[in-house]
Amino acid sequence: MDERALRTLLESMSLAEKVGQLIQFSGEFYGATDISVGPQHKLGVTKEMVGLSGSVLNVAGAKATRKLQDWYMAQHPHHIPLLFMSDIIYGYRTVYPVPLGIGASWDPELVETAYANTADEAQAGGSHVSFAPMVDLVRDARWGRVLESPGEDPFLNTQMAKAMVRGFQHDLAHQRGIASCVKHFAAYGAVEGGREYNGAQMAPATLFQDYLPAYKGAVEAGAKMMMTSLSTLNGVPGTADTWLLQTILRERWGFDGVIISDYASIYELVQHGFAKDAQDASFKALTAGVDIDMKSPCYANELAPLLENGRLDETKIDQAVWRVLQLKNTLGLFEDPYRGASEAAEAATLLSADKRQVARQLSRESLVLLKNYNQVLPLTPHSDQKVALVGPYAARDSLLGMWAVHGHKADTVTLAQGVAQYSDHLSVGQATDIVRDAEMFKGMGATDAMLSQVIQSDAAEEAAVADTLAKAQAADVIVFVAGEHTLQSGEAGSRGHLRLPDNQRQLLKQLRQLGKPVVLVVISGRPLVLTDVVDDVDAIVQAWFPGSEGGNAIADVLFGAYNPSGRLSMTFPADEGQLPIYYNHPSTGRPEGVSQHSSRFTARYIDIPSEPLFAFGAGLSYGKVDYTAPVVDVSELRPDQPATVTVTLHNGGELPVTETVQCYLHQAVASIVQPVKRLVDFKRVTLEPGASQTVTFTIQAEQCAFYGNDGQLRLESSPIQLYVGHDSTTKAHVALTLKVKE
Ligand code: BGC
Repeated sequence: MDERALRTLLESMSLAEKVGQLIQFSGEFYGATDISVGPQHKLGVTKEMVGLSGSVLNVAGAKATRKLQDWYMAQHPHHIPLLFMSDIIYGYRTVYPVPLGIGASWDPELVETAYANTADEAQAGGSHVSFAPMVDLVRDARWGRVLESPGEDPFLNTQMAKAMVRGFQHDLAHQRGIASCVKHFAAYGAVEGGREYNGAQMAPATLFQDYLPAYKGAVEAGAKMMMTSLSTLNGVPGTADTWLLQTILRERWGFDGVIISDYASIYELVQHGFAKDAQDASFKALTAGVDIDMKSPCYANELAPLLENGRLDETKIDQAVWRVLQLKNTLGLFEDPYRGASEAAEAATLLSADKRQVARQLSRESLVLLKNYNQVLPLTPHSDQKVALVGPYAARDSLLGMWAVHGHKADTVTLAQGVAQYSDHLSVGQATDIVRDAEMFKGMGATDAMLSQVIQSDAAEEAAVADTLAKAQAADVIVFVAGEHTLQSGEAGSRGHLRLPDNQRQLLKQLRQLGKPVVLVVISGRPLVLTDVVDDVDAIVQAWFPGSEGGNAIADVLFGAYNPSGRLSMTFPADEGQLPIYYNHPSTGRPEGVSQHSSRFTARYIDIPSEPLFAFGAGLSYGKVDYTAPVVDVSELRPDQPATVTVTLHNGGELPVTETVQCYLHQAVASIVQPVKRLVDFKRVTLEPGASQTVTFTIQAEQCAFYGNDGQLRLESSPIQLYVGHDSTTKAHVALTLKVKE
């Protein structure tokens, strides 16, 4: 539709119709086509409003979306199509690893392909907008939603954010792809204590330097929507933060897309004590810049009274409606309200072989080899080696993680299926449950019937453990697939203790006593604290929730068909007491081991180590890549003179290897204390056995710029160091001087 016709449409709409465009309910409100009953009464909105609401949450699949669209358009006074939005976070029907695993791939190119594939699947099923990427920077593994984020680094997260947005929206000009809604603006990942829905407190310099770049990157990549956060930042709820939504997002970054609240977060302004009632909340959210109210009664019931009592000007409503109509128009809904969705399109695209292949590759690349004592891995395929695949995840199909709402467990390749393709002498025994903690499940609302599904009787467990131990005893190598339960991470999955469940640790002790090599594969949505098991195993593969192709990908790595290349995108703590922990922390005045003070008075704990168990960027491969010392071509880095840092890599191993070469910066003197190190670039290079390759980073002076507490970028002369190496602990560096006019 041309813009004039769209304007005419807006001008012809009644107030109720306009308000309708600004509200979003979930599928059950429509009860398919019969809206005469259902939860609209519970939320206190009228049947008429439901019929006018401009978008719907989490109705997906061609059959359901087409049916609802037909009904909706037929009864809508102007036949404006409904917009279908959904949580399509890391795959649709083909499920990829959770984003924390995706972050560990350090492969934005492949991520873009995966998200383009996801968009194609979702589009075939009638979804128009995805509530992703979630790019909240995360530093505290207690928070369950770290699973949804690419990780703790501003630079890596920004690359991932851009790749995901580009993938989702890959060819919108030709109606291929779906719109991307970035979330949760802003700094939801910094909730205090890692406790879900808590507030965040943060210095402006930290916000601009570390937390905002990934959202900004997503906006630069063209994201069409932004979702606010359920949390507060420095005392202001994200859903009513005029400074964030207007000054930063719209004015500074030039974002002209649609802003949506998070689920019920406008209504929650009252609970926060930021608004006195639903009407006040509606006023504050709309005037701050929130266009669409997700799943609350606020806009539906309060915008009209706000106009009547003169507190709100109708132009505010018109602006918001205009943005929603523009999005519908950009998506071509006025021409084709289904956007090509059909059951035939689904049959052609969902879980197609090429999509599975991409999932398998991304899943392999997400796996991080954390330990490999005595080169116990890789196992030898099709040999005499007897493999016992044990533990609660050995044959389970629950490898998709908390947010894979469109995935089907039944499509998942299990570990047992994956390993069976390589091992001619395989035995499988799950022994124990994932977690035998009835109180925890009850606390999450599980009934007795549900409990019996997840926790077997003591007698059954005893028998299963005995059977598994016998299998392990007869094997040459034990692969123990352990981890946390799907329900222990994701939204509202905050935890205080991050160890493997007691029953699994107990099983590991028994396995250890058999005196066989033990390989631990960890399934989790977060960095767990592995300190008390690390010495009890010979190898560790961190496997996240690896997705539909998880079993294949893990088996590929275990048997060396894929040489592991994943690198941690989030620090693994040695103890929960270290949290939050992240590599790019500000320099302290009393660094441990370096300070002139006696060891007591340094930046450390007296009862636990300060160092993490596994650092950001860490990860092993089979065989070792050697680096030469980095060299730099200039002694001064200036705005008119970049610096080129070079290293040469050599693969002395027997397998091809993919190495992620990481380049970090430290600025020695600055008006805001700088991090000990921060990632400024990385390159993935693949080396054949025996091959050498030179890798070059060109660093511009502007990459050294940092934010002050006034939110402005600063570039200051200083000695700097550029580190190039395998991970964030690298000591190899070159020293030069950053020289700028001040
Ligand atoms: C979550 C969002 C999600 C929304 C819709 C909320 O609870 O915080 O991330 O997109 O629900 O399902």
